[in-house]
Amino acid sequence: MTARLQTAPSLARLGTESAFEVLARAQKLAAEGRDVINLGIGQPDFPTPEHIVEAAVKALRDGAHGYTPANGVPPLREAVAADLHRRHGAEVDPDHVVVVPGGKPTMFFAVLMFGEPGAEIMHPNPGFPIYESVIDFTGATPVPIELREASGFAFDADSVLAKVTERTRLIILNSPANPTGGVTPKAEIDKLVAGLERWPQVAILSDEIYSRMLYDGREHVSLLNYPSIRDRLILLDGWSKTYAMTGWRIGFAVWPESLVDAATRLCVNDHSCVNAATQWAAKAALEGPQDAVDAMMTAFARRRRVMVDGLNALPGVRCAEPGGAFYAFPNIEGTGMTAREAQDRFLSEAGVATVAGTSFGAFGEGYVRFSYANSEENVARALERIGALLG
Ligand SMILES: Cc1ncc(COP(=O)(O)O)c(C=O)c1O
Repeated sequence: MTARLQTAPSLARLGTESAFEVLARAQKLAAEGRDVINLGIGQPDFPTPEHIVEAAVKALRDGAHGYTPANGVPPLREAVAADLHRRHGAEVDPDHVVVVPGGKPTMFFAVLMFGEPGAEIMHPNPGFPIYESVIDFTGATPVPIELREASGFAFDADSVLAKVTERTRLIILNSPANPTGGVTPKAEIDKLVAGLERWPQVAILSDEIYSRMLYDGREHVSLLNYPSIRDRLILLDGWSKTYAMTGWRIGFAVWPESLVDAATRLCVNDHSCVNAATQWAAKAALEGPQDAVDAMMTAFARRRRVMVDGLNALPGVRCAEPGGAFYAFPNIEGTGMTAREAQDRFLSEAGVATVAGTSFGAFGEGYVRFSYANSEENVARALERIGALLG
């Protein structure tokens, strides 16, 4: 007999991250003996630096086996505050830092706090798919912030402000951005923050997980540096991308005073605390040598060149220069394929895994995300194969 379970309707509204589905299909093809080059992946292809791994091993040997405070061990939260001061010159109270298992829990918690039917939550589109998924889950109305190729996929402050209403509860921003690599210039952020001073009921979630991944001498502009919104800013950052630690599951947020207890209660209800040894490894990451991060960025910068130049040489393809992260988001309209067709054909016919732009929202039609978290040689080989397909 088949069970007739009555799940909550909200469950059917929860979306997904199709990069994981592409990964599964690519792995299946590889298991069947196909030579698949994976440019669908959203994680650095480097190992976690050795001294960070050693710090976790030491923590385990030293007995870090039990629960920790739900918001993270105090020395780690202090290290986060010190790092934010070093990097952005921002004053952060370690008691406002909440350590969570990755970048995702913070966005989930923030959207849960503000999302309900009738509320509007603005999110980048194309953007990280989990934003819209969780907004839908809560029953709130997702209001897209359309990101355009013509402005380097940076958000335009005037268009964001034009969509703010009495019902807007939360605005999600992400720079440097996934999937586009877009970096929003300081002037637009200044303008947005000035405009938001008229809307004091609106919270801001700034996803700065790629804050260390910038090219051509660009400097990161953190929303932490805007005092007029600090009492309603949720800053999301973490270790996954910067230190190649996606599988360790650790990230953090800086919450405003009024929300930090709620965020900690969500941790208690959800996961109790982050794996103890991982927290000590994360502290070592912030306080130890940063040369592995620099070396990784040097490699990404070289691959970016190969990727962008290679894409621009393909027939029907045009690629804007990404300012950050490790993604290129070329326009493929000239090939005559939809984003999904391109994703499917690149994988099945050329053996190259990529992700359709529409996986990141409706405004991603006509684009495909290529990750360059793969060797220069593989990036070049992948582009050659796609060239042969399009040629
Ligand atoms: C913009 C953005 N935010 C957050 C995350 C989530 O990171 P984590 O793996 O730490 O949960 C990702 C991961 O791809 C991302 O691209």
